[in-house]
Amino acid sequence: MSQRSGNLEVRRLGRGESVYARYLRLSELLSLQKPEEELKHHDELQFQIVHQVFELWWKETAFELRSISRLLKEAKVSEALRLLQRVIRIQYLLLENMRMLETMSPWDFHAFRQLLAGGAGSDSPGYRELLRLSPPLWDDFRALLTAAGASLSDVYLEAERYPLFHAFAEALIDYDEVMQTFRFRHYKLAERMIGAATTGTGGTPLSLLERTIHDVFYPELWEVRNHLSAVAQEQGRI
Ligand code: HEM
Repeated sequence: MSQRSGNLEVRRLGRGESVYARYLRLSELLSLQKPEEELKHHDELQFQIVHQVFELWWKETAFELRSISRLLKEAKVSEALRLLQRVIRIQYLLLENMRMLETMSPWDFHAFRQLLAGGAGSDSPGYRELLRLSPPLWDDFRALLTAAGASLSDVYLEAERYPLFHAFAEALIDYDEVMQTFRFRHYKLAERMIGAATTGTGGTPLSLLERTIHDVFYPELWEVRNHLSAVAQEQGRI
């Protein structure tokens, strides 16, 4: 059965459900948040949605990372690059998503924080997958460089000779940088909500969380910058 509404044809299925709602499985999706009458505090709904959005996009990220790894193993660098650009864009989107929680006051957070007792972001399956899948991309990429007889330094010093490798290396460092930005922004969010001297609901003191700000997936890509500076100095450029 279908009905016209302006120029749009709205298709209705059994039980009044539209194709849109069925395809997106909206009845399940929209029932995954606490009903309003069960919220302990007004800001709890936003808190749940922000975290759920993270998990959805991290699910997509993990899916793309697995594809990127496969494409690199098949030496399809430009296809892998396209997906890596998507992965990077997702993480920037999530930085904005996280900022939504800055509209909550620390005292309002304390009104429902106890509900999270024993729970922690460290248990996020999405984040764990990213931690598992991201570092091995480096091995996949390095295998391609080795096969081409190029070092990472060559890729940077002779970018015009290795344009695709150069673009991929720069995308990998973009990804590493936005993940580091996530760790930093997340730490600042936690600090502004509960204070730097407090311990998280999962038992981790914020001082330990702060140390993760310096973690990177691809140290070689950061290190090669030092090498390039040294070469520039040797050549009298600086
Ligand atoms: C009120 C906002 C938030 C606070 C106060 C907060 C606080 C914390 C704290 C203290 C930890 C250390 C573990 C523990 O709880 O003991 C942690 C870990 C973590 N949180 Fe949050 N968080 C907040 C929001 C978020 C959001 C929106 C996300 C996105 C999914 C997130 C993801 C994570 C992840 C992935 C970890 C593990 C980090 C790691 O293992 O290095 N958190 N968080």
